[in-house]
Amino acid sequence: MELTYRPRRLRRTPALRALVREHHLSPSDFIYPLFVHEGAGNEPIGAMPGACRWSLDGLVAEVGRAWELGIRCVVLFPKVADGLKTEDGAECFNEHGLIPRAIRRLKETHPDMTIMTDVALDPYSCDGHDGIVSAEGVVLNDETVELLCRQAVAQARAGADLVGPSDMMDGRVGAIREALDGEGFEHVGIISYTAKYASAYYGPFREALDSAPRASGGKPIPKDKSTYQMDPANGREALIEAELDEGEGADILMVKPGLAYLDVIYRLRQESEQPIAAYNVSGEYAMVKAAAERGWIDERAVVLETLLCFKRAGADLILTYHACDAAAWLRQG
Ligand code: PBG
Repeated sequence: MELTYRPRRLRRTPALRALVREHHLSPSDFIYPLFVHEGAGNEPIGAMPGACRWSLDGLVAEVGRAWELGIRCVVLFPKVADGLKTEDGAECFNEHGLIPRAIRRLKETHPDMTIMTDVALDPYSCDGHDGIVSAEGVVLNDETVELLCRQAVAQARAGADLVGPSDMMDGRVGAIREALDGEGFEHVGIISYTAKYASAYYGPFREALDSAPRASGGKPIPKDKSTYQMDPANGREALIEAELDEGEGADILMVKPGLAYLDVIYRLRQESEQPIAAYNVSGEYAMVKAAAERGWIDERAVVLETLLCFKRAGADLILTYHACDAAAWLRQG
């Protein structure tokens, strides 16, 4: 054949392919999510092989391991004791609570690690919702935002570098910005869960924290989070959320889940100059782990391909439970 263009020319050798590669993965792209509990030992999480609920000592060791592998940001999630869960989730702003204590410990042992937090009521709520549920079963917006502001300030006071509102209440980014600034935390950034969908992919995470919505008393409790998290059918709506979050002062915009929502990452990348984060969530992790355990896929190849594809779609950073494994594989080359 007489062909002018033969795209295979640039695929011929590893060196040529490396020369024209458009996207790269680095451990500094990753944010490593970690679960922490009050217990003395580390508890494995059934649906998330390799992940644990860490004790405070275990957390310190795991963060040290992540640092050695080149990871520079972790996000902390608390497994709160049942006895501390209430309808208003007030434990979320206890300055001596589990998360503030974990942050202080980590800032002593690993002062240069960036610490991100989750801002939402669900781990602290006996109803398992991200906001306060009214007697009629409505997740209240403005009342919840007040608590989120107190939670974010408590986290900042403990030393958090980035607070991550994952609750999807309207107006929370602006309110949290104002609350942080009012307390002298102008330097604390907001990584907003901008386009967070009402997704079934969060199942293993809710198992890890025992935080699924549930009826605890007499009032009706919504079974899912679809009155505040976004409808998986909607793409344009993510742009509305992005515009609002940017206007309210979000420093980083996040799309969650990641894999089934690469189009949303791409659309946000087109519309915004802000850094974009993708959350490779617990259900995505569980599926890869389950297939790999059966020998049905090559875990290393699938994980590195998946993470790279987040970058191709437009993500600058990736929250992933694979962070340590991926960093170690990248180091091996
Ligand atoms: C809580 C929160 C959730 C996740 C992060 N923060 C669960 C939810 O919204 O129900 C999910 C993370 C994952 O599945 O890995 N607001």
